[in-house]
Amino acid sequence: MKSPVLNTPLMKMPALGLGTWPMKGGACQAAVETALSLGYRHIDTAEMYGNEDAVGAAIHLAGVPRGEIFLTTKIWNDKTDGPSFRAAFDECLGRLRQAYVDLLLVHWPSPAMDLPSILEAMAWIRANNLAKNVGVSNFPPGLLQRALDLDIVPIACLQVEHHLMLGQDRLLAITQARRIALTSYTPLGKGQTLDHPVIQQIARRHKATPAQVALAWLLRMQDVAAIPKAQSAQRQMENLGAAAIRLTAEDVAALATLPKDRRFVNPDMAPDWNS
Ligand SMILES: NC(=O)c1ccc[n+]([C@@H]2O[C@H](COP(=O)([O-])OP(=O)(O)OC[C@H]3O[C@@H](n4cnc5c(N)ncnc54)[C@H](OP(=O)(O)O)[C@@H]3O)[C@@H](O)[C@H]2O)c1
Repeated sequence: MKSPVLNTPLMKMPALGLGTWPMKGGACQAAVETALSLGYRHIDTAEMYGNEDAVGAAIHLAGVPRGEIFLTTKIWNDKTDGPSFRAAFDECLGRLRQAYVDLLLVHWPSPAMDLPSILEAMAWIRANNLAKNVGVSNFPPGLLQRALDLDIVPIACLQVEHHLMLGQDRLLAITQARRIALTSYTPLGKGQTLDHPVIQQIARRHKATPAQVALAWLLRMQDVAAIPKAQSAQRQMENLGAAAIRLTAEDVAALATLPKDRRFVNPDMAPDWNS
């Protein structure tokens, strides 16, 4: 089975990818190899996950042409300026054993971050084809707007937590107006939102699973992708199957009644999400 492709003015990206956190080592490598064999063509990793070596090994062994794979990595927020960001990215490429990544993101903002300097580093990386596109993650609306207003490098993607119980209307208003991809992380709410009776009922009606309903809800949105993490082939296949589900207007209205303010990823270093 294949994921639909998200096609924005800046890039093409399979709308359904595989999240790899917190898998590591052989388990991560096996999960990525399995995913590639099942038809996944979008893999999400990060410097901080400690699994870029395993992701790279899986890509090398899977036998899928590199040009068919969309690979994302992210640089941690202790790199607060361009030179340290560029040096860290060099190491990412080394661990991944790749000449380039498809998408490079700032993983989290930090108060110490020199944003113009980091955007300049990303512009250099992009101009030198080491990352085909660049973007940011965990940026609240005001900071995303600032990164866009600085206009140093085109921002192709925003990656944020987004699922049936966490709406991101303010961010979507910005990304959809500018045709920037929004990649939804923790798209299954860590698997902890799926027993809600409304989700279960809609899943039964579609002869689908609650996880498929959760992913279909995201994938129906303009320029939105999702990167569920699943270890087993069975769950990876189930999640890929979400692409075939068409929710009705009635389903969407019922799902709109679910709480939209449950955040699972909110570490102390997180920005003020409303800023
Ligand atoms: N940018 C960031 O700061 C950031 C933050 C968090 C996450 N992410 C990315 O987003 C990815 C996904 O987020 P996440 O791992 O936090 O949460 P998630 O994808 O919402 O949930 C993962 C959990 O759901 C389970 N699951 C997977 N498929 C399922 C299915 N069909 N039915 C029931 N349960 C299922 C998984 O179980 P098993 O795998 O154990 O089977 C795992 O326990 C991460 O792996 C990472 O790549 C990025």
